[in-house]
Amino acid sequence: MTPSRKDHWENVYTKKSDQEVSWYEEVPVQSLGLITELAGPDAHIIDVGGGNSNLVGELLLRGYQQLTVLDISAAALERTRQKLGTRASNVVWEVADVTSYVPDQTFDVWHDRATFHFLTDEADQKSYLELVQRAIKPGGYLVLATFATSGPEKCSGLEICQYDTPGLEAFFGEHFEVVQAFENTHETPFGTSQNFIYAVLRKR
Ligand SMILES: C[S@@+](CC[C@H](N)C(=O)[O-])C[C@H]1O[C@@H](n2cnc3c(N)ncnc32)[C@H](O)[C@@H]1O
Repeated sequence: MTPSRKDHWENVYTKKSDQEVSWYEEVPVQSLGLITELAGPDAHIIDVGGGNSNLVGELLLRGYQQLTVLDISAAALERTRQKLGTRASNVVWEVADVTSYVPDQTFDVWHDRATFHFLTDEADQKSYLELVQRAIKPGGYLVLATFATSGPEKCSGLEICQYDTPGLEAFFGEHFEVVQAFENTHETPFGTSQNFIYAVLRKR
């Protein structure tokens, strides 16, 4: 039987180290650059599907104070908490599937690197779209990184959807304006390359 989405990710983070997962970045340079350009330390920021990313730690180092990290995997968030030590108590941790997440606040910046692209069902994509419309403040930003159309067709053994700028505009365009988009090649910890598209979308 195919494991559930949650079981899949709990299993990944229980069995594999940071260096054994393709998406790992020691310092998430692209995301960090975009977020720090868009918002100051008082901004409410959520990292959706944050997993084992060091983004939250880097933002804490730069004085950001209103940080939330959401992931479907409790094991992933526990690992990130451990890496932060006592600083973890300055972050809100949410174990949730983004497709059914009900936030109790709105955000200035919603960051998602390599999570949205796992939503291959139309119903899940629609839930995500409705959620970002509700959860991002007017004038706030969605910072999204997905596999590009020249990128991998799968990740962690799961099907993904690839995107380009017109595809993101078509999907998010009714409520968001694409203000920046560029491709970036990620070098995995095991020496392979993955083409991503990074996009900054501003809520109208
Ligand atoms: C490829 S990893 C990327 C992790 C991190 N964003 C980074 O860039 O290093 C995808 C992450 O999304 C999480 N995830 C997958 N589907 C999810 C869902 N439906 N809701 C919440 N998190 C999900 C996984 O547990 C995993 O941590």
